[in-house]
Formats: sequence, structure tokens, C-alpha cells
Amino acid sequence: VHNLGDQNSILNQFISEIRDSRVQKDSMRFRRNIERIGEVLGYEFSKELAYVSKNIETPLGNKSMYLMQDQVVICSILRAGLPLHQGLLNYFDTAENGFISAFRKHEDNEDNFEVVVDYFAAPSLDGKILVLADPMLATGKTLENVLKGLKDHGTPEQIHIVSVIGAKAGIDYIKDTFPKNTHLWIAAIDPDLNARGYIIPGIGDAGDLAFG
Ligand code: PRP
Repeated sequence: VHNLGDQNSILNQFISEIRDSRVQKDSMRFRRNIERIGEVLGYEFSKELAYVSKNIETPLGNKSMYLMQDQVVICSILRAGLPLHQGLLNYFDTAENGFISAFRKHEDNEDNFEVVVDYFAAPSLDGKILVLADPMLATGKTLENVLKGLKDHGTPEQIHIVSVIGAKAGIDYIKDTFPKNTHLWIAAIDPDLNARGYIIPGIGDAGDLAFG
């Protein structure tokens, strides 16, 4: 688990704006902050990928440089994953892309819910770097179901989960359910989940804040 919000950096400015109940009402700023967090986390996890030396010709000479070798597939979970996806795509120009739907289905007005994952549009993941983008990691059930649903798309070499805010319990759940070659890149970890499965203090409902 790489909790980037642990250090003092500009990242915490973006996180404080998406938390702040007055500032977060500006949905354009909210989406842009999620996108910027995607850029920062993408830059950080790029350091874990495989690089190969390539010769670059400049107008005046040659320079050998280490360039990323891995094929990255960014898979986002709708809806709130969309701005995070855009932030990652701003840096990973040649990434392939996948989109997955997930929602919490409440049978009645009670707190119990099941996570329904039914739309998968994703390329083959065999030998690639799978990036799962979802700004909220509450119970971890969504990511668990998404991973199950992606099984028949092949076996990725590594999995990087990119999230903005997570509850400690959900992060522990991911540690228990995901394979060993999984890294989690997250901007903030909060202590609690309430009875409805919302992160406390959290930010509220990221999908609604981004898209109404
Ligand atoms: C939120 C969030 C995650 C999920 C996390 O989605 O965007 O996908 O809940 O919860 P979990 O870790 O407990 O599974 P939501 O169901 O609110 O859908 P939305 O993005 O369309 O609003």
C-alpha cells in the first residue's frame, strides 16, 4: 500500500478541496481535482514499471534513455472512475482502456446491499499491467467483483489499483482478496465506514459529486 497523502505535498491541496463540503459543490473543480490526483498517482506508479534503454536522436547527437516497456491497460469503474481515468490517460499516452460498470443494489431501504457488476469492455490483459481506477475504496466489494469478472480476459503481470480515498477496512479486505502482485496507490486513508458502507469522514458520494 502506497499512501501518497502521508507526505506533505501539493496532493493534499487537491484532497482537501474534494473533501471540503463547500468547495466540492463546484463539480468542475471536483472532477479536475480527481483528474489531477490521477496524474500524480500515475506518475508515482510509473516508477514501478519495467524500462528498457533506447537510443534517441536529437538534432545534434544521440542520447540513450530508459523508456517504459510495459503495456498498460487502464480499467475504470463507472461512474466515478471516469475523471481518474482521464488523469491517468494524460500521462500514459499509449495505454489500452477498459470500462466496467458497478453499482450498489439496495434490496430495500435497509443498509444491506450487493454490488452488481455487469458491463465489461476490456482488452486482453495477458502479460500486461492492469490498472484499476476507482476513486473510492469503501468495503472493497466492488474491486473484488471487478477482478472476478476480469478473470476471462487473461492474467496480468501486475495489478495496480489507483484510488483517491479508502477506508482502512476496505484496504485490509483488498490485501486479503487480491493476488500478491497487486500494488495499491491511494491519496488518503480514513479510519471508518458507516453502516451504509460510506467512508468516514471521506468525501461523500464521488459519483454524484462528479456527475450530479
Ligand atoms: C462507489 C465508488 C466505488 C464503490 C466503492 O460507487 O465509486 O465504485 O462505491 O465501494 P465498495 O468499496 O464498498 O465496493 P457507487 O456505487 O456509488 O457508484 P457511482 O460511482 O456510479 O456513484
